Amino acid sequence: MLTTNHEITSFIKTLYPDSKRISLHEPKFIGNEKKYVLDAIDSTFVSSIGPYVDKFEEMIKDYTGAKFAVSVVNGTSALYVSLLLAGVERDDLVLTQAFSFVATANSIYYTGAEPVFIDIDKFTLGMSPDSLETFLKTNIKIINKQAIHISSGRRISACVPMHSFGIPCGIDKIVEICNSFHIPVVEDSAESLGSTYYSKHTGTFGLLGVYSFNGNKTVTSGGGGIIVTDNKKLGNLAKHLTTQAKIPHPWEYRHDMLGFNFRCPNLNAALACAQLEQLEDFIKIKREISSKYFQFFKNKEINFITEPKNARSNYWLNSIILKSISERDSFLKYSNENNVMTRPAWTLMSDLAMYKSCINDGLINSVDIQNRLVNLPSGVN
Ligand SMILES: Cc1ncc(COP(=O)(O)O)c(C=O)c1O
Repeated sequence: MLTTNHEITSFIKTLYPDSKRISLHEPKFIGNEKKYVLDAIDSTFVSSIGPYVDKFEEMIKDYTGAKFAVSVVNGTSALYVSLLLAGVERDDLVLTQAFSFVATANSIYYTGAEPVFIDIDKFTLGMSPDSLETFLKTNIKIINKQAIHISSGRRISACVPMHSFGIPCGIDKIVEICNSFHIPVVEDSAESLGSTYYSKHTGTFGLLGVYSFNGNKTVTSGGGGIIVTDNKKLGNLAKHLTTQAKIPHPWEYRHDMLGFNFRCPNLNAALACAQLEQLEDFIKIKREISSKYFQFFKNKEINFITEPKNARSNYWLNSIILKSISERDSFLKYSNENNVMTRPAWTLMSDLAMYKSCINDGLINSVDIQNRLVNLPSGVN
């Protein structure tokens, strides 16, 4: 390798000169976090209702432009409920990518449906619109406005593309293709809050979108998630389903559906509100870090992943693609041993025991990228 492990690791250390051990991403609390959390404690509203829950949802609506936002306990439950709202039922098939965090496939499996893994685009690292279209054209027939998988006879009831590491995937094309096959899109935007495509926020292209506020994300609520949609009926149903499906009444406890206790506690929402106030500042810093990486890797033989044209990435995690698995492993070993945390991509979902037997389209790019990608430290500290 022309650029040595030492050179890259040393460069990363110049980006984080004050850190003894540089982490991949850690939260930063320099705004109103303590004030709002203490305020929530003083108010005694620490659980599922309270002004910060409402404020959190309002802030997300204002920021993303979504008409409805419903806060929940984490991104995984947000995905699961969104799939139910999109109409996914037991024994259905749901299209997604094998190159993702396990929660994407798990949330599909919780519904009783099975994931079908579509390949990714090697530039955006998100679902490839071309692979999606090829799979659908080859394997699907439309019966009564439903996409039926020809060889299994099963219904394809949703598509879950993911914006990997914050880089917007070709979401406009994916939605267009899915629309033509009557397949609703649930956008897994867990990693891409603040990323836009043609100035529109990721998460707002599909029927429903989901953000995560886990501690490793650009902004955090400790643990939390949000469902967004422009569909009034689904927005209201999302609130109802995630709050035990209780019929509003001052004292009676009556529930009209099988609901879930997925509501976001006011305490977590307080933290989220303070963090959201700083989101644009964090993204600015993250984009500066990314631009420094870009300058460093520009004339080297290493591929540094950048946002596509007409997109803005939040650059949640920066990524490089090395030449081979052995180069990847050698760099992972060297950097981690030298106090710079780096990590490989997730094991493909299609290689996990639970999902080995699921249908996939060959996953050529997914396998190749999974073998060679390394995430670099990207925190704002
Ligand atoms: C792509 C993706 N989907 C879903 C999730 C699940 O979010 P959470 O951890 O908030 O449940 C995460 C992250 O954690 C993620 O990265």
